[in-house]
Amino acid sequence: MKNFSKITLSVLILASATLTSCNNDDDDPAPVKASIYTRLGGTKMVADPDNSGQMIEQGRLSFRKVVNSTVGLIVADIQANASGNLQAHFAPLLAETGNTQATNIAKLSDNLTDFFSFNTGGTNAVNTYSGLNMVAAHDPAKNPRMGTKSSNADYTKFVGYVGAAANANGVASNTELYTDIVAVLESLRTPIVQK
Ligand code: HEM
Repeated sequence: MKNFSKITLSVLILASATLTSCNNDDDDPAPVKASIYTRLGGTKMVADPDNSGQMIEQGRLSFRKVVNSTVGLIVADIQANASGNLQAHFAPLLAETGNTQATNIAKLSDNLTDFFSFNTGGTNAVNTYSGLNMVAAHDPAKNPRMGTKSSNADYTKFVGYVGAAANANGVASNTELYTDIVAVLESLRTPIVQK
């Protein structure tokens, strides 16, 4: 994971550097662009709508909403296309039954929320990602819960669902924030697509 955190972070840093280097007026440097995490609400504490009495950083809550919508779209896709292309990848996860399946989907959702928060500027310890790196997580030989390797087409479909989930949670496609999120996703295509 660490390698790809670095890749992702370097994309963000590069984006900021590009912005700064476009400005020729040394007396008035362009402000460094805020991280995606900050632009999604950052460290501002808000009531957690899913855990009564608890507070959560707005940035993490925004990612959790997008992740949960994405998981919902993927599960709906698999149910609608029982033999479709995403089914094979998630088969081991969906074959886990009863509480185990619910627990594991919740765990995947939590890991994805950590992953996105941690790699886009979330510094709170609660966002620390401790799962597999992106190559291992998407290699069935190293992660038996990944049914088959992902193709480019699968990846494009997955990114489309993340985009739709972002739209559903208030990040419109024509915004810079949306473009920046898609750029982070695209930076992970090479390690994740393994066939
Ligand atoms: C931007 C693209 C993606 C990101 C950031 C991403 C991220 C992750 C993360 C963080 C995990 C958890 C690893 C762990 O628990 O140790 C994971 C697991 C997994 N991903 Fe992805 N993924 C992406 C794309 C895909 C695609 C395209 C597929 C399938 C076509 C896929 C299928 C899976 C499966 C089946 C698992 C295993 C679930 C588990 O171990 O609990 N992912 N992914």
